Amino acid sequence: IGKVIHYEETVDSTQKIAHLLSHEGAVEGTVVIAEEQTGGRGRMDRAWHSPKSTGIWMSLILRPKIPIQRAPQLTLLTAVAIVQAIEETTTLTPQIKWPNDILVEQQKVTGILTELQADADRIISVIIGMGLNINQTEDDFPPELRQIATSLRAKEGKELDRAEIIKVIFQKFETLYMLFLEKGFYPIKLLWESYAISVGKEITARTLNGSISGKALGITDEGVLKVEDALGEIHQIYSADIEL
Ligand code: BTN
Repeated sequence: IGKVIHYEETVDSTQKIAHLLSHEGAVEGTVVIAEEQTGGRGRMDRAWHSPKSTGIWMSLILRPKIPIQRAPQLTLLTAVAIVQAIEETTTLTPQIKWPNDILVEQQKVTGILTELQADADRIISVIIGMGLNINQTEDDFPPELRQIATSLRAKEGKELDRAEIIKVIFQKFETLYMLFLEKGFYPIKLLWESYAISVGKEITARTLNGSISGKALGITDEGVLKVEDALGEIHQIYSADIEL
């Protein structure tokens, strides 16, 4: 991971560049990092606020030989890698909110956006975008985000070394990815569950087809969220926003 790094000052979105590089045949593990994004994208077509030299805005190109249905597992793997990296480089206790948010004290510090290039049901590449709020002050966040988002610096009380955190993310990611390719998702699932906040809690999952409220039971061996509603019926949720 990160043997080829495209480092840019200002880009529209590192995801876009990673898509282009992937089309051009970029090798697995290629990373695009930018100091600033003017058109950072989040999930569900949202914008991702990416001010200059404060956060880590990067996209990673993978070319795993796995069935396309397993691609979401890589989002969960990435979340574990980032949580481990935050644990190693700060005194904080980050937690994962399914599927891809990393929170510190209930506020979001990281988002992950996984996109695919596929040919029918064969994966050409998986492009994993990671946005980590590192050195922003509270004032750097737009007012509407101040309650829900924060930075590691705001929680840790001091500036952090972004290059060091990137290095540790690469190390953690590589170890987990090797484990994933050799042993499958199960060991990653166990790690993921040890960091997840939603398991056992009452949640509401907002999907494109409406919302489901109930108790989060955990994830399946495939990485799909299981929710038990008030009638005891179990729903499998592939993609949603979760409210705790
Ligand atoms: C989310 O929580 O909605 C996902 C946010 C993902 C943001 C990252 S920043 C680097 C990469 N480039 C983008 O445009 N988005 C991702």
